[in-house]
Amino acid sequence: MPEINLLRRYPRGKRNVTKRATAKTDEYIRISRQYGFEYFDGPREYGYGGYRYDGRWLPIAQDMIAHWNLKPGDRVLDIGCAKGFLVKDFMLALPGLQAFGIDISRYAAMHCEPEVVGRIHVGDIHDELPFPDHSFDAVVCLNTLHNLKRPDLIKALQEIERVTKDSRAYVQVDSYRSEEERELFLDWVLTAHTHDYPAGWKAIFAEAGYKGDYYWTLILPEDTEAK
Ligand SMILES: C[S@@+](CC[C@H](N)C(=O)[O-])C[C@H]1O[C@@H](n2cnc3c(N)ncnc32)[C@H](O)[C@@H]1O
Repeated sequence: MPEINLLRRYPRGKRNVTKRATAKTDEYIRISRQYGFEYFDGPREYGYGGYRYDGRWLPIAQDMIAHWNLKPGDRVLDIGCAKGFLVKDFMLALPGLQAFGIDISRYAAMHCEPEVVGRIHVGDIHDELPFPDHSFDAVVCLNTLHNLKRPDLIKALQEIERVTKDSRAYVQVDSYRSEEERELFLDWVLTAHTHDYPAGWKAIFAEAGYKGDYYWTLILPEDTEAK
């Protein structure tokens, strides 16, 4: 169960944390958690502020394929896949790889990349995943698990273990390593219900019996911008 950053080649964007913290209300959070138009393609205060494909997941797909030594014909699942950008890039990075996604957002599935139409399932990870035991050669779940509360979070980690082979999985979750990073996170966060220091997350993984890989989504002081 290594701690490994498989998103190390993901570009770090600038975030106006002060603006988000000032604008954030319970109503914004409620609308964000609907994972509809506003969250993906509405104003930045609700979420992404425009979620468009730009190929940024391609190097990450390459690193994941190398990490698990995936081959054409293998099956990979992205849980919380949104519009399927990583699903598409898995297939571009390794032609013949069978990539699929699942996400709660019908809006995202209806606005997915054309290459992944039919590969995106609409489903809620509060429920059992609609896939047989050990039916995927690798499963990833990026920036999604923290939207659950316990005990659903524990069950979701167990579901990842159930559908993948030999614990070949990678999860990335909201975390912070200092009080400064924690304050930035609390100013920025919209949808997450569970967040913790790495030690807290490792305890959750152990409780769930999750043996896959993991890393943290962190907001660093240098990621912030003032406007
Ligand atoms: C922050 S986005 C992450 C998207 C992508 N994985 C990434 O890292 O850029 C969180 C995603 O989780 C999905 N999501 C939230 N709750 C979910 C649930 N209970 N079941 C499945 N997907 C969920 C949202 O619709 C959204 O696409």
